[in-house]
Amino acid sequence: LYPTISTLKMLIRCDAPVEYQINFNEACSPTMEGIISFNGNVLFTIGFIGIAVGWILANCIYFYSENNTSRVSTFTHSKELEIVWTSIPALILLLLATPSFSLLYSMDEIADPTVTLKIIGHQWYWSYEYSDYQTHCLNDSSLEVPSLKYSCYLTALETVPEKQGYFRLLETNRRVVLPTNTHLRLLVTSADVLHSWTVPSFGVKVDACPGRLNQLNLFLKRTGLFFGQCSEICGVNHAFMPIALLAIDPLTHEQIMYNHFFE
Ligand code: CUA
Repeated sequence: LYPTISTLKMLIRCDAPVEYQINFNEACSPTMEGIISFNGNVLFTIGFIGIAVGWILANCIYFYSENNTSRVSTFTHSKELEIVWTSIPALILLLLATPSFSLLYSMDEIADPTVTLKIIGHQWYWSYEYSDYQTHCLNDSSLEVPSLKYSCYLTALETVPEKQGYFRLLETNRRVVLPTNTHLRLLVTSADVLHSWTVPSFGVKVDACPGRLNQLNLFLKRTGLFFGQCSEICGVNHAFMPIALLAIDPLTHEQIMYNHFFE
């Protein structure tokens, strides 16, 4: 039964790692779609270069080996050939750099975000803050403002009553909830040492540096449950500070926020 489930998981949306996975997780953001498509282009180019260089090498070995004296070439230098084998790789690099840079700069674009999520790395857990709802929902400063901040710790599956269906080392006690089809701003920082907030399905990997606020934009295209892990070696429990995110439709997200602040 197990291989069937595994195959099924690969056929449907793959938002968490599976056994023997060799490809990317399914894209959820335009950034990740760009990364996957760029990866495809680079792989094609690498394949082309590999075949071409391999063919030249095989020919050299065959025709110019020590034992093969049937064809003897006497030339030792070729200026034309040097120009060709310098300019063609340079041209290929230029062709690869163009989509790479446009992808890189498109990640930096901040398009007037609606929701801001503050992410703070700790040894060894992540904490999250939704700061903009406080000012938007409660204008009266005399009111005691219920802050929306929480910490997410690794859930040991031994503590989960029904273990099946959970992902080992990826589940947290609370999941981050983010709206889909909304321009999001993520602010990433750290309280102690370097961490890195990484979610493969989003194509996001940002370093969390103490004393520095890193900003990035995010746009989620579909609902789902997404997982990530810390990607900067940060101490003994580096492997045990996962990220679990729930992407839900904006209306449900608003409802959750409303319920938090007014009930
Ligand atoms: Cu935090 Cu590695």
